[in-house]
Amino acid sequence: MRCGWTRATGAAAATAAVWLVSLVSVAGQAGTEPPMSEAFFKNVQVLKGIPVDEFMDTMGMFAASLGYDCVSCHSPNIYEQRATAYAETTPLVQRARQMIVMVNTINKNYFAGQARVSCFTCHHAKNRPDFIPSLALQYGELMDDPNAMAIFPDTRTTVDQVFAKYVQALGGAGRLAALTGWVARGSYEGFNTGGNQFPIEIVARAPGQRTQVVRTSEGDAVKTFDGTSAWAAEGWRPMPLLALTRGNLEAARLEATVAFPAGLRQAFSQWAISSTTIDNRIVQLLQGSNPNQLPVNFYFDESGLLVRIVRWNRTPVGTIPMQFEYADYRDVAGVKMPFRIVNTWTDGQNTIVLSDIQPNAAIPAARFARPAPYQKR
Ligand code: HEC
Ligand code: HEC
Repeated sequence: MRCGWTRATGAAAATAAVWLVSLVSVAGQAGTEPPMSEAFFKNVQVLKGIPVDEFMDTMGMFAASLGYDCVSCHSPNIYEQRATAYAETTPLVQRARQMIVMVNTINKNYFAGQARVSCFTCHHAKNRPDFIPSLALQYGELMDDPNAMAIFPDTRTTVDQVFAKYVQALGGAGRLAALTGWVARGSYEGFNTGGNQFPIEIVARAPGQRTQVVRTSEGDAVKTFDGTSAWAAEGWRPMPLLALTRGNLEAARLEATVAFPAGLRQAFSQWAISSTTIDNRIVQLLQGSNPNQLPVNFYFDESGLLVRIVRWNRTPVGTIPMQFEYADYRDVAGVKMPFRIVNTWTDGQNTIVLSDIQPNAAIPAARFARPAPYQKR
């Protein structure tokens, strides 16, 4: 059965509200060191030794792989008593624990410890994996996934050409270099706001600092990247102040980097080029790589503008994707900037629609400092 993300994340979002009740006790210790999952959650038996944000990514991996929502495995009480109900061992939680051990054993014994087999390898968004080959698949049309990590080189165009066209489409190198900071206002909605729309403010400073504040009816949800570290003080997270780690830290860095596209090329040490299609339209695909990190895919449309980014996070049971889509480019001080941004990942989706971007506004450095823990109004 294929379950909508709405339900999956409805539960994930609703989770936050009750978690917060139990959070007061840990608020004092919220600092730079993210706690490990087993120290923060109540009943972690297998997924130990990973930070809290990566633990939640792993839950996203489960939901995405089985086409399940949170409550498919967890007790229905998660809607009322989230802080305790998630810790209950239901039959499916127990089954999933066995599957984690199985996957780790397969990878260890047959793939030299590399994460080649994941939950998705067998499940493909189904709770019961198929085991009889499908003639429809075998003889059907081959589907090309534009978001695949493995890409095929396109020799007709060069990386230089794509970047040159991108810079031109944005307004030229001179205009880009002159943009050193901006303040944007608009609306934010997603599964983590239960589909409600709230005002958002985004402040960004070159070369790579970015803070966003979503003014929800319950309190201000703040996410900050100061150039080195990232934090989330958001009501829908399991903790009132969560230091983002590993892949989530890289995601925050990437959001800050693309806020000033002049620095994009330098942000990766290697680039590969390919092409693919999105919605039946040909797009140029550049893949940026840095040592010891998963690559990042950048998609450029016919006009040369960036329309999509796909990146990946590692979890203990496989790799999960995260996608940013950019649309409605408008002129801001001679630079084209996207006014519509949709972020999709295995735990949810949210949409930012900007109404106004103020270029080169003076932004105090304090706006990028570690935020105070989330507080209900
Ligand atoms: C395929 C089944 C499955 C799905 C779907 C699933 N989980 Fe889990 N969840 C588990 C398992 C298994 C554990 C225990 C992990 C362990 O013991 O190491 C767990 C543990 C947790 C915990 C820790 C509870 C505690 O205090 O010990 C939280 C919180 C949690 N899940 C949240 C979620 C959320 C939010 C979602 C939806 C996005 C979700 N889960 C989807 C299987 C699942
Ligand atoms: C090697 C293939 C394989 C992999 C990899 C795998 N599973 Fe499974 N899983 C199965 C099969 C087969 C079944 C169904 C067994 C049956 O029909 O009763 C299943 C069933 C399940 C069920 C019970 C579903 C239900 O509704 O009854 C859960 C939960 C589950 N898997 C979780 C996971 C998780 C989480 C992972 C990743 C850590 C994972 N599986 C990886 C093969 C796999």
